[in-house]
Amino acid sequence: MIGIFFEDINYGLDGGLNAQLIENRNFETLKCDSEGFGQFSTEFDGLYGWKALDDKIGVLTISDDKPLTVKNPHYLVFEAKASGAGFSNKAYDGIYLKKNAKYDISFYAKAEEDNTVTVAVLDGDKAVICHDFDVKKGDWTEYKASLTSDTDLSKGTFAVCLKDSGCISFDFFSMKPADSVLGLFRKDLAELLRDLKPEFLRFPGGCVVEGSTLESRYWWKRTVGPVIDRPYNWSRWAVHTSWLEPEVGPYHYYGQTYEIGFYEYFLLCEYLGCKPLPVVGVGLACQFQTLEKVDLDDPVFEEYIQDALDLIEFANGSVDTVWGGLRASMGHPQPFNMEMIGVGNEQWEDENSQFFERYRIFEKRIHDVYPEMKCIGTAGPDVSSDKYTRAWEFIREESAKNSNFVYAVDEHYYVNPDWLISNNHFYDDYSRDIKVFAGEYACHLPDSCGRFNREDSNTFYAALAEAAFVTGLERNSDLVVMASYAPLLSRIGYSQWSPNMIWFDGGSSYATPSYHVQKLFSINKGEYIKEYKPLNEGTFFTSAVKAADGSVILKAVNVGDKEETIDLTGLNLVADDRKVKVTVLAAGKDDVNSISSPDKVSPVESEVEFKDAVKVAPLSLKVIVIK
Ligand code: AHR
Repeated sequence: MIGIFFEDINYGLDGGLNAQLIENRNFETLKCDSEGFGQFSTEFDGLYGWKALDDKIGVLTISDDKPLTVKNPHYLVFEAKASGAGFSNKAYDGIYLKKNAKYDISFYAKAEEDNTVTVAVLDGDKAVICHDFDVKKGDWTEYKASLTSDTDLSKGTFAVCLKDSGCISFDFFSMKPADSVLGLFRKDLAELLRDLKPEFLRFPGGCVVEGSTLESRYWWKRTVGPVIDRPYNWSRWAVHTSWLEPEVGPYHYYGQTYEIGFYEYFLLCEYLGCKPLPVVGVGLACQFQTLEKVDLDDPVFEEYIQDALDLIEFANGSVDTVWGGLRASMGHPQPFNMEMIGVGNEQWEDENSQFFERYRIFEKRIHDVYPEMKCIGTAGPDVSSDKYTRAWEFIREESAKNSNFVYAVDEHYYVNPDWLISNNHFYDDYSRDIKVFAGEYACHLPDSCGRFNREDSNTFYAALAEAAFVTGLERNSDLVVMASYAPLLSRIGYSQWSPNMIWFDGGSSYATPSYHVQKLFSINKGEYIKEYKPLNEGTFFTSAVKAADGSVILKAVNVGDKEETIDLTGLNLVADDRKVKVTVLAAGKDDVNSISSPDKVSPVESEVEFKDAVKVAPLSLKVIVIK
């Protein structure tokens, strides 16, 4: 049931899971702004993140004359007026290095004269790593080196200097740790995701699928093929906060380089050992931000449908097909075994959107060619409004005529702890004919949850409320076939949305209590034991599953302030020789509602003797594995 929802929000991809350390590496950044609903503007700012080390002797300009690639036509022209002139990159919060770690550095250059280009990471004025490249006079050439750091460093400066005065053009700088997973993904983050043992990965969003405008939507076809030919796009999350937050922050420059595109997302699924669930747009830009859409009778609408069909061919088609051939040429002749497709993100029906008709058309066209493909529908942005009720009415009506109409309905809820605790029964009375995908959920604390950089909104109590709710999902796992917390990643100081499951900066990352909850449910999965009478009233919640190896696994969530007891006798377990592993997730009294340090909340494991009754401390989650 438990999977991952990945969206490029909070600098989760560029500046996050993408191992690339250089910001605006191809000089294509747009500054984005919004004056209100449906009013967006972009302004080219190709030098964003770059500056001269000394502007008296170094001048940076942007050119698009005879570019390396027309798809990303802008590049840097650097004029060194004196020997040693150079420039630097912001690299988000600067470059973080680890002692003895290797880094792969590359760039393209074309020079008017031979010169020596020094690329270095500086700690103040001191070069920590440094390499001289002999750049020859001539057209675009790629230069590469692998360098090892002999020290740890935080917030270093990525600097490039010319030995002699002169003019050199540069494009596509790159610096990545050599230990990046598949050469693509930041290791600590990728490993945290893999440790979750997810069943699926939903990508690339979220509202990013839709865009603030249709132009800024996610165009998957532009994200495959050679990386330098993937055109930069701005992000829907570049303008999320600008109505609320007057000062110009980094969000306004939040873009998508597509260095990680759909091919790489599929590779990530293989690395994680989970099923891919790509989501495609249906010709509607983000309904929270605009009314922009493609009309159903506009020939362009057909392109959206074709995008969905071609995506399936890209993932699964033979190497003789156009899109399967492209996949093969990128290095993956075997299919990616895509079984599911999300049709729209959290769209809802209204007079403008005509979403129901869009879904109907997509479903028919997909199933005409791929009858086995599982289409994921949506109940809209919440589980309480008229949008949700109407969506379910529509899906039920259509499903009565066509059992393949929807495989599961994606429900989203960002709700407070009381809601999660008191709605443990939410799915008990759902009719069982149409499956549910709890595709985005998280506990939002009413008084401390903001949408910006609020690490403090990831409290232990919020995670415990989620755990209480997840026992209800587990109990209803015949119906709720998939579930994923949202959002997943957030770069500290760069978030447009809180809370998030994992926070990180350039040097390190940490798992929140919500991560531990997700992981404890995910790694302790099994078939729900129907005979088990769960406790699911008030402040104490339990559920029981049978794992593939025959173990019985109980989860007990105590959100109350007194100790509780679970009676195991109802499970008809024979006590002799039983080995019992207990994992407890709890926080100290002072850390329940505000965590001073992330490592204060992490699961503690122990082996105990089998007993018929197990105590569960106040404010804790206990997982009991009986072998
Ligand atoms: O998870 C953040 C956002 O919440 C998603 O982009 C969107 O689907 C929902 O509104």
